[in-house]
Amino acid sequence: CFSISLVSSYLLSSSPSYSNKSQTGLYSDTFIVTFPKSGTVWSQQIIISICELAGGLNQYANNFEQMPWLEYREEGLEDYTLRRSPRLFSSHLIPALMPPGLKNKKAKIIYVMRNPKDVVVSFYHFSHILKDLDTPESFDSYLEQFLEGKVIGSSWFDHIRAWHSHKDQYNILFLTYEDMIMDLKGAVTKICKFLGKNLSDAAIEQVVEKSTFKTMKNDSKANYKFIPPEKLSGDFMRKGKIGDWKNTFTVAQSERVDQMLQERLGDMNLKFIWE
Ligand code: PPS
Repeated sequence: CFSISLVSSYLLSSSPSYSNKSQTGLYSDTFIVTFPKSGTVWSQQIIISICELAGGLNQYANNFEQMPWLEYREEGLEDYTLRRSPRLFSSHLIPALMPPGLKNKKAKIIYVMRNPKDVVVSFYHFSHILKDLDTPESFDSYLEQFLEGKVIGSSWFDHIRAWHSHKDQYNILFLTYEDMIMDLKGAVTKICKFLGKNLSDAAIEQVVEKSTFKTMKNDSKANYKFIPPEKLSGDFMRKGKIGDWKNTFTVAQSERVDQMLQERLGDMNLKFIWE
């Protein structure tokens, strides 16, 4: 959820402001990394809720402030080295554009992947409500744009390949949006363990409750309604389902994605849940 111009101006001007030695020197930085529309904001809510319940999290106005995007900052350029530990960040970047210091494996990265048909449908709808994005002419033309990598985040295929093939260089947990839908408590438990947070079962249930689609839709810190309507003219929390692509895709479009998946990522043995 950002524009290319903002991303590039940020990358050119301010990437040195991230250093993974935080003020307290605890190296407790945590990143959520995704291709856009894959469950970023949902994961933000889970990570923030876990850290809040574990104690010691600094308070910010909303999840966007609490877990800011590395590459998207509209209002001025905050110096992230001044943030106190534990620091939480979000990013849609590929490994080559991430701060090189993350390779020392002291910071933690949670990477969430979603099936590309639901990603493109979610993105298509989002492009109608986010002012910074061009409104697509049709789903068919938007799908072509997506498959060519001419959307924010660039190529979904390259993103997936890059993060999976560089995984050994990072301290990284891979999750899928579909796994999170099918077993939210399981996903919360995995994230808790990965972050080294020892929460009771009751606390984990609380995180789950705070992270359901229904709760988040009404949570003003989490639902991105704090973005003014002249910038975001619809609901960020749209459907939150697996398989919504079936309401938009034709059979031919679906087969085209299947074919590209095979051509571009067939060697990677990735498993997708489509419904
Ligand atoms: S962005 O703009 O890249 O940050 O978008 P991102 O947050 O990655 O993805 C938005 C989609 O995630 C859905 N969402 C959820 N699904 C299930 N449960 C919960 N709690 C949840 N929170 C967000 C959101 O509805 C978008 O998917 P679609 O398919 O458009 O509904």
